[in-house]
Amino acid sequence: MCGIVGYVGPKSTLEVLIGGLRRLEYRGYDSAGVSVISPSGHLETRKKAGKLGNLVAEIEEHPLPVANIGIGHTRWATHGAPTDGNAHPHLGGKRQKLSLIHNGIIENFAELKAELVAAGTSFSSETDSEVAAHLIAREFEKSGDLVTAFSAVVVRLHGAFTILVIDEDQPDVIVAARRNAPLVIGLGDGENFLGSDVAAFVEHTKRAISVGQDEIVILRANSVEVRSFDGKPVQLEEFTVDWDASAASKGGWSSFMAKEIADQPQAVADTLMGRLNSDGSVHLSETDGLSHEDIKNLERIIIVACGTAAYAGDIAKYAIEKWSRIPVQVELSHEFRYRDPIITKNTLVVAISQSGETMDTLMATRYAKEHGAKVLAVCNTQGATLARESDAVIYTHAGPEVAVASTKALTAQITAGYLLGLWLASIRAVVPAAELKRLGKDLLKMPGRVSQVIAGLKQAERLGTEMADAKSVLFLGRNVGFPVAMEGALKLKELAYIHAEGFAAGELKHGPIALIEEGQPVVVIVPSPRDEESLHPKVISNIQEIRARGAKVIAIAEEGDDQVASYAENVIYVPQCEPLLAPILTVIPLQTFALALSTAKGLDVDQPRNLAKSVTVE
Ligand code: F6R
Repeated sequence: MCGIVGYVGPKSTLEVLIGGLRRLEYRGYDSAGVSVISPSGHLETRKKAGKLGNLVAEIEEHPLPVANIGIGHTRWATHGAPTDGNAHPHLGGKRQKLSLIHNGIIENFAELKAELVAAGTSFSSETDSEVAAHLIAREFEKSGDLVTAFSAVVVRLHGAFTILVIDEDQPDVIVAARRNAPLVIGLGDGENFLGSDVAAFVEHTKRAISVGQDEIVILRANSVEVRSFDGKPVQLEEFTVDWDASAASKGGWSSFMAKEIADQPQAVADTLMGRLNSDGSVHLSETDGLSHEDIKNLERIIIVACGTAAYAGDIAKYAIEKWSRIPVQVELSHEFRYRDPIITKNTLVVAISQSGETMDTLMATRYAKEHGAKVLAVCNTQGATLARESDAVIYTHAGPEVAVASTKALTAQITAGYLLGLWLASIRAVVPAAELKRLGKDLLKMPGRVSQVIAGLKQAERLGTEMADAKSVLFLGRNVGFPVAMEGALKLKELAYIHAEGFAAGELKHGPIALIEEGQPVVVIVPSPRDEESLHPKVISNIQEIRARGAKVIAIAEEGDDQVASYAENVIYVPQCEPLLAPILTVIPLQTFALALSTAKGLDVDQPRNLAKSVTVE
């Protein structure tokens, strides 16, 4: 994980670096550091364990010189505890004039370290990254050229890395490389940027280039050159970032998470925009990499994703199967490729990832491609590796999601899943076109309904605040309510650090009901009673079973469900909609509930302990 930023140009380098790190802090916040080279040619470094604020305080106490070039890092610790010494940048060689930052894991670092130690190098950290700093410094002493030295070393490194290097003796250039970890270039006028993602520099420029696998970047204020590891020049493909810089700031909200919950009507509307016509028909031009013939021949869809994104996949499964009659299985990316899955050329793998950089999901999609499947990505980040490596991409237009816990990216992913389902169904033509259009029209109404849910979140907030002392909360759901229950539990675990579990309500009597005792809070996602095949009566029976054993029930139910109130201590109502679309609405009170409970416990909701937003290690 870790966030990386680099800048060369006339602006205040420190301001650019700290601003970039602030936007990248979601990637890791165990420590932070910067190195700059002053116009008089001196390399200076400041680094500090803990959140970015500690580094800023350190710089206030020990100011850095004005500079035109620098690199910055925010760390999610892998090798070595989160201490000042293990924080990046790391200095290389006896000269200590070369500074390096690294995101990823150098898998052969032990062997390389042994080689350096035998040659008399001493280390000042426990990180794998310092090895690369010393190796490059040693090569630099031989050749006197940073690019030559850097190129000689990166080919020796195994594993995943984005590495940025500057050196006092060549003070006009940042040299960078990427393998299995993200790196994006930001193009300015007389200035250029590097970042783990576009959030690092979107405040300054919207012109970007994403760096490919095994490529080296040579960045100066007035030039950008990219070469492959074997020295061949790489053709640069520029794209325009469509994120608004202000979208990545809190804008008066108490937390990014609170803001991002409130952003959801827009995230859903933007994801639908241009893809769903007013008559309810779907137009997905991004899927041009997949022909109608490919779709007609599909035997199976496998959705790969992790965490919250996998729950979006679970919800999409219900819709895609029901509407297109194509069998769908949802796999956790990290489990998928290790069990020899059955993949044919008629398998479509749908990879869902907000960041597009989750290593587990990238590895799963690479595996699927190698075995002949087509890959369709559902991704929120332009220029991300997943998007580059897939046959087609449906971008979720949720905008930058900064809080570590996913909220608006999830509702945008669910929305994209419905669009995909309707699009596949329109090609497979099993369900009548008129019925698909009716569903499409209902989907068009979702942003308005999401706004209504957001306007009524006070109750969820109050319940979360009142339950700050809860030791355990259970979540129950059926059908599309089941993944919503799982997501509600995940939010509570990651934000409030309490025991929380989601169950399929029908599974309760097969074991989990033994957990119910007097006072146990249980949140139940109640299905619509209007659906002919509704599971409503069954879920009401489940509620009665747990209440008989002492559970305190919070129900999430649709407006007009008059029965539920007599079976629950509290009912949070959401607007009526097509039952399969309900997760977009029912998940929102659960987000607010977790946010309020975590806030009441005095915890950091945007940066929960031990986590990072973008999980770029396996
Ligand atoms: C939980 C959460 C994570 C991510 C997961 C996948 O709130 O955010 O579970 O959903 O790490 O991340 P992406 O979507 O970037 O692949």
